[in-house]
Amino acid sequence: MGSLDGKIAVVTGGGSGIGFAIAERFAREGAQVVIAGRRKERLAAAVEKLGHGARAVQTDVADEAQVQRLIDSVPRVDLLVTCAGGAVFGPVEQVPPQSWREMFEGRFFGQLSACHYAVPKMRPGSTIILCSGIAGHAALVNYSGGAGLCGEVNAMGRSLAVELAPKGIRVNVLSPGLTRDTAIDWGVPPEKVGDFLAGLTRQVPLKRPGTVHDMADAAFFLAA
Ligand SMILES: NC(=O)c1ccc[n+]([C@@H]2O[C@H](COP(=O)([O-])OP(=O)(O)OC[C@H]3O[C@@H](n4cnc5c(N)ncnc54)[C@H](OP(=O)(O)O)[C@@H]3O)[C@@H](O)[C@H]2O)c1
Repeated sequence: MGSLDGKIAVVTGGGSGIGFAIAERFAREGAQVVIAGRRKERLAAAVEKLGHGARAVQTDVADEAQVQRLIDSVPRVDLLVTCAGGAVFGPVEQVPPQSWREMFEGRFFGQLSACHYAVPKMRPGSTIILCSGIAGHAALVNYSGGAGLCGEVNAMGRSLAVELAPKGIRVNVLSPGLTRDTAIDWGVPPEKVGDFLAGLTRQVPLKRPGTVHDMADAAFFLAA
């Protein structure tokens, strides 16, 4: 018997990193998990590792029709977790503005449209877990677009929480700090990733990054 027995969980970005760790935890606790992401091979590998009847729906969350198709694929949504998205790092004068737009299309509008389609399929007792990031409340260098996005997701979560409370739907925002073992693109050449992450880790008071399991623990607490 698991704490999430019989629950249907939709986890966007569930093919890797934080989303995968959450999907894994939910599946282990008995949830029927549906993961979404763009890369077929990544999803297939994740589904195989997840077991417990998990399945994937290939979805680009920047495309509203694909988000609708994802939510249409389940009879109801008990747990919605929206981890899909990437980050854009770099000095403000060097980042191509189009890359901020693309980040918002997936990581901001993707989360909002997942809520749009999922809420009518949620019963009292259901839960939404959005994903922002520490840049929403701490000042990080070279991350202006991502900081704006994280702040907006935090605000969106607060608004949805009070809007959906009368329906018995709880809304929370997971706001990861630096988290290791993810597939995130840090925007630096592969040979420089180690130094880049070491530099970020030095800014963390505990001098260690978080783990995807820390995030899964938090998401499980919020879900259960
Ligand atoms: N790692 C950190 O330190 C950190 C810190 C703060 C916030 N975050 C946020 O946490 C969330 C999870 O990231 P992560 O760190 O676990 O990195 P990750 O391993 O790269 O996970 C992101 C997942 O989202 C999917 N994805 C990206 N764009 C998508 C789109 N348009 N449609 C559907 N799926 C999409 C990716 O798969 P495909 O590319 O195959 O679609 C990937 O599986 C992200 O929003 C990230 O920005 C991470």
